[in-house]
Amino acid sequence: MSEAVVPFKAPVGTHDVLAPTSALWEGLVAIFAQSAYRYGFSLVMTPLFEDVGVFLRGIGEQSDVFRKEMYVFEDRGERRYALRPEGTASVVRAFIQHQPTTPWKAWYVTPAFRYERPQAGRYRQHYQLGVEVLGTDDPAVDVEVIALASGFYQAIGLRKVRLLINSMGHDVCRGAYVTLLSAHFKVNETQLCDEHREIWRENPLRVLDCKRDPCVEVTSRGPMLIDHLCDDCRAHFDKVIKGLVSLGIDSTLSPRLVRGFDYYTRTTFEFVADALDGAQNAIGGGGRYDKLAEELGGKPTSGIGFGSGVERLLLARAAEKVDDELLRRSLDLFVIDTTGDDAATVLVEQLRVAGFATDRAYDQRSMKAQMKVADKSGARLALLLGPDEIAAGEVTIRDLRSKDFEQTQQRVALSEIVSTVANLLTK
Ligand code: HAM
Repeated sequence: MSEAVVPFKAPVGTHDVLAPTSALWEGLVAIFAQSAYRYGFSLVMTPLFEDVGVFLRGIGEQSDVFRKEMYVFEDRGERRYALRPEGTASVVRAFIQHQPTTPWKAWYVTPAFRYERPQAGRYRQHYQLGVEVLGTDDPAVDVEVIALASGFYQAIGLRKVRLLINSMGHDVCRGAYVTLLSAHFKVNETQLCDEHREIWRENPLRVLDCKRDPCVEVTSRGPMLIDHLCDDCRAHFDKVIKGLVSLGIDSTLSPRLVRGFDYYTRTTFEFVADALDGAQNAIGGGGRYDKLAEELGGKPTSGIGFGSGVERLLLARAAEKVDDELLRRSLDLFVIDTTGDDAATVLVEQLRVAGFATDRAYDQRSMKAQMKVADKSGARLALLLGPDEIAAGEVTIRDLRSKDFEQTQQRVALSEIVSTVANLLTK
């Protein structure tokens, strides 16, 4: 079918989400909110745009996202703002501004904007579900945050997910390691990829994040941070691994995992979905950022969190062929009214107030047309109100999943409708 000619479309790398797909989004967000609630998190909402300095100092000037992907603009008051490319820096900015009691545990669902080359699983606007904990560096929190993510992936039906983990150390051990790594790159400079041959000096750690073969080859022969951690960072990492083992969560040490932002310290992790294509298979990632609050002008405050891309979660579910019904909340009831009488309006309201997800047809369309809409609506039961029913003070109930509804349909007194429907829906 040729595409309709319309004057405006959603910008490149963005998408509209409509039903029935939007029901899956709703399901994912609801399950995430429920998980976060169980783990003691409360919702945080921050503006979609921030002073560009929040990201410059937050995610780091040298990060790929800051250098190549930010949406920066000047408003009419000549202030320089940026659309948020990720959630963490804004949440930490809000933490510093409002000084909530610590440990502060916040979750969010937010769009994030990155000027990427659009492809499946990589968009210019994507959505993240995430959590952040500020005010403790207890390794038990690292374990808790990872357990939340891992349990969430299970709850949405994903089975082929692996957890990769590493430690980025702290200033002192990382400083010494960067010196070693720089010496390695100096000797092997000509063998790095075109981009990093030029700029590896600006931030040698970024080369570890490069997926191109020449950089992978050079770094795999070089020193790894995990072998050069100071005693404190090593002890922290060991406690995290021990905690994960005690919860039965498998992880794989991934020494090249440095993640894309400059704020990470100590624990870093990523969840990859094996059912997805390698380049876009990270469905979630996060880690500690014990220096970020200071970078943004706050008091020294430890932090840790993760973010997970909604679009990638749905792609991973589709690739694993997980049943969509697990996420979809469908309508319970559909009211068909051929009389145009207020009785239908009253009945629909009564059912909604009683807690049933109920929809109806409008405009007094024919019985056949209304039945078609009812069938498409995904509702379990259709409730029919015709002149006969109104005269008798009754409703006809039809099971929309039943093939021989003529046989199975039943008439029920209006006064008994709520209890009868409640009963039928549990069957
Ligand atoms: P991130 O790894 O950049 O981390 O993004 C988190 C997740 O968002 C990724 O694992 C991926 O699922 C999804 N994602 C990222 N970029 C795109 C894109 N262009 N299109 C589609 N999905 C994408 C962060 O953003 C950190 N703030 C996570 C964090 C929280 N670290 C500590 N706390």
